[in-house]
Amino acid sequence: MTIVVTGATGHLGHLIVESLLSRGVPADQLVAVGRNLDKVADLAERGVSVAAIDYEDAASLDSAFAGADTLVLVSSSEVGKRATQHAAAIDAAGRAGVGRVIYTSARAARTSALILAPEHKATEEYLEKSGLAHTVLRNGWYHENYVGSAAQAAASGTLASSAGEGTVASASRADYAEAAAVVATTDGHEGAVYELSGDTAWSFAELAATISSIAGTPVSYAVLSPEEHHAALTGAGLDEGTAGFVVALDGNIRDGLLGSTSGDLSRLIGRPTTPIETTLAGALKA
Ligand SMILES: NC(=O)c1ccc[n+]([C@@H]2O[C@H](COP(=O)([O-])OP(=O)(O)OC[C@H]3O[C@@H](n4cnc5c(N)ncnc54)[C@H](OP(=O)(O)O)[C@@H]3O)[C@@H](O)[C@H]2O)c1
Repeated sequence: MTIVVTGATGHLGHLIVESLLSRGVPADQLVAVGRNLDKVADLAERGVSVAAIDYEDAASLDSAFAGADTLVLVSSSEVGKRATQHAAAIDAAGRAGVGRVIYTSARAARTSALILAPEHKATEEYLEKSGLAHTVLRNGWYHENYVGSAAQAAASGTLASSAGEGTVASASRADYAEAAAVVATTDGHEGAVYELSGDTAWSFAELAATISSIAGTPVSYAVLSPEEHHAALTGAGLDEGTAGFVVALDGNIRDGLLGSTSGDLSRLIGRPTTPIETTLAGALKA
């Protein structure tokens, strides 16, 4: 049984390979793939096969996917190119005769107004049309998305956001990685679509209190309008496009698109999801 994991040179994919190893999958049945193989040197040292791919180089995909039973397709980080890149990976999986594809999507990808949803929706639809056996893991937000703002808030005493009273049901990357490893190593997931989230949703006021308790210093929540938030971000040096993206995502949170909890993640991993306090405390103390 060979499992190929794309994005293994990134954070989530690397954790998926580690989780597969800790679930007892022999290293010689794992192939960790990505562009920059320096980032999987540690896995290669543990006996995992590694291969360089670029979603835009079909031959690299054919070579890396040859002989794979399962492909864990971790979504690409190149926003705007992803639907085409993922389609190329799915086509290559078909050519290689891969038995099943596990794709990391986004919450409610087919119906959500989340600004990141359209590329995931297109990929889910392409996967369905491919006729390949597949499972969709609709990953919610990562706790780790807030490490930078938590450090900044601990230093400045203010957590600023335009998410209003919106809530986020985030989980740690390691939780999502474990879910992917469970699905890759157990039966009964064909055709399933899992809505993965943390067990609880937090508000930004609660996040400010959490950061305050970790840092041992007062942190208050500053509720910004989208315009104020955009001005603050560009004032801090972000380019227009990135600032607009961040403000739009906070708008999605304000609109409740990332706050729902389904329990799918803790059911799959067989334990409660990691609290955001744990992830932030580890990162801030590191
Ligand atoms: N749920 C969330 O909160 C959240 C947040 C951020 C991102 N995401 C999504 O989840 C994915 C995994 O998250 P992450 O934190 O692991 O992201 P990450 O660390 O940025 O990893 C992205 C991976 O995509 C690979 N990649 C990018 N372009 C590629 C290409 N043209 N060909 C082959 N591989 C390519 C990168 O390879 P190299 O590093 O070798 O170039 C890397 O392995 C992201 O890519 C994104 O789609 C989700």
